[in-house]
Amino acid sequence: MRRLYFFDTTLRDGEQSLGITLNVREKLDIARQIVKLGVDVIEAGFPASSPGDFEAVRIIAREIKGAVICGLSRSVPKDIDLCAEALRGAEYPRIHTGIAVSPIHMEKKLRLSPDQVIEMAVGAVKHAKKYMNDVEFYAEDAFRSNREFLVKILAKVIDAGATVVNIPDTVGYATPWEYGELVSYVKQQVPNIDKVILSIHCHNDLGMATANSLAGIKAGADQIEGTINGIGERAGNTSLEEVMMAIYTQKKDYGVETKIKTREIAATSRLVSLITGVPVPNHKAIVGANAFMHASGIHQDGVLKETQTYEIIDPEIIGIPRNQIVLTARSGRHALKHRLQELGYSLPDSQLEQVYESFLLLADKKQEIYDEDLHALMGETTAIPKLFRLKNIAVATSGYQSATATITIAINDQEEVTDAAIGNGPVDAVFKAIDRITGNQARLDDFSLRSVSRGTEAQGNATVKISSAQNSYIGRGINTDIITASAQAYLDAVSKLMEKERGHNESKADLPDSPHRA
Ligand code: KIV
Ligand code: ZN
Repeated sequence: MRRLYFFDTTLRDGEQSLGITLNVREKLDIARQIVKLGVDVIEAGFPASSPGDFEAVRIIAREIKGAVICGLSRSVPKDIDLCAEALRGAEYPRIHTGIAVSPIHMEKKLRLSPDQVIEMAVGAVKHAKKYMNDVEFYAEDAFRSNREFLVKILAKVIDAGATVVNIPDTVGYATPWEYGELVSYVKQQVPNIDKVILSIHCHNDLGMATANSLAGIKAGADQIEGTINGIGERAGNTSLEEVMMAIYTQKKDYGVETKIKTREIAATSRLVSLITGVPVPNHKAIVGANAFMHASGIHQDGVLKETQTYEIIDPEIIGIPRNQIVLTARSGRHALKHRLQELGYSLPDSQLEQVYESFLLLADKKQEIYDEDLHALMGETTAIPKLFRLKNIAVATSGYQSATATITIAINDQEEVTDAAIGNGPVDAVFKAIDRITGNQARLDDFSLRSVSRGTEAQGNATVKISSAQNSYIGRGINTDIITASAQAYLDAVSKLMEKERGHNESKADLPDSPHRA
């Protein structure tokens, strides 16, 4: 069987599209989970794009072991120098450099002739090789390139020392049979292609990124690039979890082996959604909330008789326990620990006590605790210390719209400050009171509220997006009371903004281990 390598670009192509910048701790949490999933290469960022990205790549390279850590660069010496510098601490570093190769990109965007593009590409690979052996070359917009030109440039960069060549469908224009043909063509026509790993990278503009990637794999690609939950520019990148499960369910057909641990898929998807604030649609393949639900009577009847009548994947294979267990305030520490273990959290006893206390508080309010509640609880109780923490909240509504909120906030877990504000409804009053205490002036871009689990006592999951002149930040809060959840989410976003923009240098702080999953 040939080896297929998984290359995750959630933190580069995925993050680039979010309109927010994740902080280093959030990126580290995602990277750690992606390593657990068994991915071979993590593209941690684009160091030359901003000092923040440089720092994130530097810290991920230093902290994350067990996978190749890759940084993106244009074919410009200064970009490559920065990329190499950021990757210095990596166990297995890789520079991913490249240039656009389609006529429209060369003429209109780069304003360079094809010969000049080849010169820059070869120069970039040679420059990157001065720093490290592992150099990947991307031929941006390869799918819309002239085929003879593509063959020529790939052959030259391989001669210059590239170890991996990537032929993206940058604008998501391909169909599966055409993309498969491109891979076959490159394999047949590039004379030195057997010396390197051939990589594929698809975008989802026509909804075919997964299908195109699978066609590329069938045609002989060695490495597949994509993101978790398919997040990415415009309609997104290839959803890696879809490719993983397509290969898993039809192993013989693909004839490839990977080191993916499918049982980590659900946890990885959940973590990426939680941290990025990008919800996974209910009907999303593999990781959507409805992916394993059977609603119609005929289907339910069939599944009860034999699961495989309507189920092609056992949910346990992607890390969703099949048996539904509902915990209550009467459940002991042992039952909680056991269920958390089944959900993939292995807690040291010291942490279990803290989680158990929060569990009892929640169970008092909510009576029945579902798996979704436990995931939310794990995200909350083990959260990283924040600049601002909500201590108390009281809201009074009067008349049709007006409301008054009185809020107490702990600053740096030390001093406590209380203030009040009047607003146009309770959420507006709460946000205004928080602004008065924290001095926040950022613009509120987005606010959404979803229920975490079932029933009228379900916890509310609030997501808030705020923007300053420099950046945008996502905050999240979970509580059975939706006003409290909204206040927590807003404070979370304001904490991130203040930490980043008012001198709290997170990269120099001690970065704790992942709080989400051990
Ligand atoms: O889509 C694309 O072409 C890319 C390259 C920069 C690898 O993301
Ligand atoms: Zn891309």
